[in-house]
Amino acid sequence: LENWDLIVVSNRQPYRHTFDDNDEIAVDRPAGGLTAGLDPVVQQTDGTWVAWGDGDADREATDDANSVRVPPEDPAYTLKRVWLSESDVADYYYGFSNRVLWPLSHSLENKVTFEDRHWERYREVNQQFADSVVDSVATDDGSVGTETDDSNSLVWFQDYHFGLAPQFVREEVGDEALLSHFWHIPWPEREVFRDCPHQTELLRGLLANDLLGFHIPDYCANFLDCVATILPEAAVDWESWTVEREGHECRVRSFPMGVDTERIAEYAAAPDEGFWAEFRAEYGIPEDQAVAVGIDRLDYTKGIPERLAAIEHLLETEPNWLGEFTYVQKATPSRTEIPEYRELGRQVDRDIERINERFGTDDWQPIIEIEDYLTEEALYGLCRHSDLAIVSPLADGMNLVAMEYVSAQIDHTGVLLLSDRAGADDLLGDAAVTIDPTDTETFASRLDLALSMPDEERQRRMRALRSVVATTNIQSWMADVFDATLALEQQVDTTE
Ligand code: G6P
Repeated sequence: LENWDLIVVSNRQPYRHTFDDNDEIAVDRPAGGLTAGLDPVVQQTDGTWVAWGDGDADREATDDANSVRVPPEDPAYTLKRVWLSESDVADYYYGFSNRVLWPLSHSLENKVTFEDRHWERYREVNQQFADSVVDSVATDDGSVGTETDDSNSLVWFQDYHFGLAPQFVREEVGDEALLSHFWHIPWPEREVFRDCPHQTELLRGLLANDLLGFHIPDYCANFLDCVATILPEAAVDWESWTVEREGHECRVRSFPMGVDTERIAEYAAAPDEGFWAEFRAEYGIPEDQAVAVGIDRLDYTKGIPERLAAIEHLLETEPNWLGEFTYVQKATPSRTEIPEYRELGRQVDRDIERINERFGTDDWQPIIEIEDYLTEEALYGLCRHSDLAIVSPLADGMNLVAMEYVSAQIDHTGVLLLSDRAGADDLLGDAAVTIDPTDTETFASRLDLALSMPDEERQRRMRALRSVVATTNIQSWMADVFDATLALEQQVDTTE
């Protein structure tokens, strides 16, 4: 990325300033694979990262240009914050992003709630982010933005919060910057996307990018199909996966995202020998039992009630498992302002209580829910020692938990049970035990199969999974996206 000014745009910020108990300013790093993965790259390029300043001390830590140099201990790039009012957050973030685009992209139409003001605010906030980006774009003659130098700008938008911003930026900077976008969630089939209010504006917004990335080819094909059927003025070239609209070309490509495998393996290896026995004792997991683990954001796309139903069915139909295995659920509350998320939390609690009451004994509970915060060492230690991970989303762009579990499996003893509806199924489906999360009976019988799997087969499958996550990791993902973006620039140069 030499000679490039990288400008990353995401809703979540990589560093957040908050007031601690003593009213001192503290910095935390919001959890999440994306911000953690991108941070080292932006550090290397001394770029700019534009994001929503959602910390209560963010303004105090920021200068007049809304910027702060990060990481705090060794500043290497500029974090530029965008300020959102409460009603911005309500309508742009909770509203259009998470009550329309999120459920619709996951093909869960019955979870969509649309109001006009959601859209209005989504538009305005996208404009606000676009303005902040434009200010940072360097141009040869200084006509756009405040920065001028010899390098070119590469703007990299992240995710569904920014369906319109690329167009707003393009209108200001023309061809002075390369615009690249990665949509981290699925893109639905056109029958579903047709229900999307303001579908034409969104497609046009995204087509202002030079490159639009999705995790897997299916999502690319769905997107192109939507463009071909909804936008009369756009021409889709199905050979090269390029869309031409009003003289501008946008390439659509798949880039399967991965995780920082080596870092996770180090965390998994870090705890001392007593870790697992202590962990089990702390959470009341009997010593001699098989352990299955589920780690999720508490989101209705993750298929948690479906998973609990399969466990219940297993205990009902295969009583030999009673008292023989424990399922450990770590679910992190998320987007709790949205009624559907609160209802899901209540449902999961009710289901767990019912199953435990029904099958539990004085010294065994089939399901243990961990509410404590777990350090990365504890989390990946749990993954390393669990005999089974259950990843059962109803739809999921990729699902990085599946890859984290595999990365932490340094002893090759665990089995991955994976939904065939996760993007990760494209990569891991051959060596994982795959399930349809809504088919309770088969799901339960696959659980049975996974729990009874001989060591040799576990080893064989886990080695195969590990070789995939070692090559499709966060570093290769970023390198592939940047290579593809910069290759576009070269093509432009040679045709000029
Ligand atoms: C998904 C989205 C991310 C988002 C994350 C957490 O993975 O693709 O863009 O940051 O969920 O959700 P939140 O709403 O808390 O940012």
